Amino acid sequence: MDRVVNFSAGPSAMPLEVLMRAQSELVDTNHAGMSVLEMSHRSKAFEEILSNTKQRLRKLMNIPENYKILFLQGGASLQFSMIPLNLLQKDHEAAYIITGSWSQKALKEAKKVGQTTVAATSEEDQFRQIPDFSQITQSKNLSYVHITGNNTIEGTRFTHLPKTDAPIINDWSSGILSEEINVSDYGMIYAGAQKNLGPSGVTVVIIRDDLIGHAPDGLPTMLNYETHAKADSLYHTPPTFGIYMIGLMLEWIDSLGGVKEIERRNREKASLLYETIDQSTIFHSPVKKEDRSLMNVPFKTDSEETDRAFLHFAASKQLVELKGHRSVGGMRASIYNAMPLEHVERLCEAMREFEETMK
Ligand SMILES: Cc1ncc(COP(=O)(O)O)c(C=O)c1O
Repeated sequence: MDRVVNFSAGPSAMPLEVLMRAQSELVDTNHAGMSVLEMSHRSKAFEEILSNTKQRLRKLMNIPENYKILFLQGGASLQFSMIPLNLLQKDHEAAYIITGSWSQKALKEAKKVGQTTVAATSEEDQFRQIPDFSQITQSKNLSYVHITGNNTIEGTRFTHLPKTDAPIINDWSSGILSEEINVSDYGMIYAGAQKNLGPSGVTVVIIRDDLIGHAPDGLPTMLNYETHAKADSLYHTPPTFGIYMIGLMLEWIDSLGGVKEIERRNREKASLLYETIDQSTIFHSPVKKEDRSLMNVPFKTDSEETDRAFLHFAASKQLVELKGHRSVGGMRASIYNAMPLEHVERLCEAMREFEETMK
């Protein structure tokens, strides 16, 4: 087998064990005599998969009983609309902390629905850091505060939360399960699965019970969280294969020792890569140290030509998908849960070798 080292930002590398397991079960899943791809979403066999996946996520993230776990479609992007449509009350506003392209997109959709306010932004600093949000006031007219917990493109992450009485909503698409958090600090957490959780096509929504059921009359049924909460994500045909794959990913994380151990590994990988960048004479990180992401690591040289030469050099060593996002340039290594330390070591080694060739 000739597998590359894949630093893609999403869809992203999955553990080989998980892929092999899915392969071995593809034609006969859980001894049902049929593939998960062929199962009715109303069958006992699939209901078991759904229920086990949910229970395991609840256990791994320590999700309290007063939160629902929903498996939806439409990506994290549809949540940009569903959140204000369901939660932005009349005569209230929604506050957004703007930390990059994804939070800008979330805000753009909310503006179409109701009143919004930018509570803090680091745009004037090209999103190289998380802005100071200590000024968020306790407004009684705030429906929620939206953050992007990990900024996939810019490579920053929140290390603390705004102090507010309003529910905090976290787009954690590129951070979910990467480190331990206290779910009850949030009103809602959502994530497209295709980075840390499994394949594309499923969005995980973890939402506190009291935030469900306040949507205005006339909201289309499929856009209402209540629809999916009441039907346990089975109002319509859910993304069955994606949910099954998330289940396998969660089993894998559990077998390693849960989120505590995953966080330890993620910190080790990220430290190694940032150390290599910081010690380099040609590569540098554009991101403020305290706000650096554990998952997405952008880095650059001083010239686009050298960046291109490095990408070429890396590809010759089977290190692929390292091109930075088009809005940022340079390189970006996405080192999600599934990426082993050894693959990050190979990248660091290649960076040092490349630097030698430049002398
Ligand atoms: C932080 C963040 N939010 C939202 C999205 C959009 O997700 P989707 O493509 O699932 O709509 C992404 C995708 O990369 C992301 O990284």
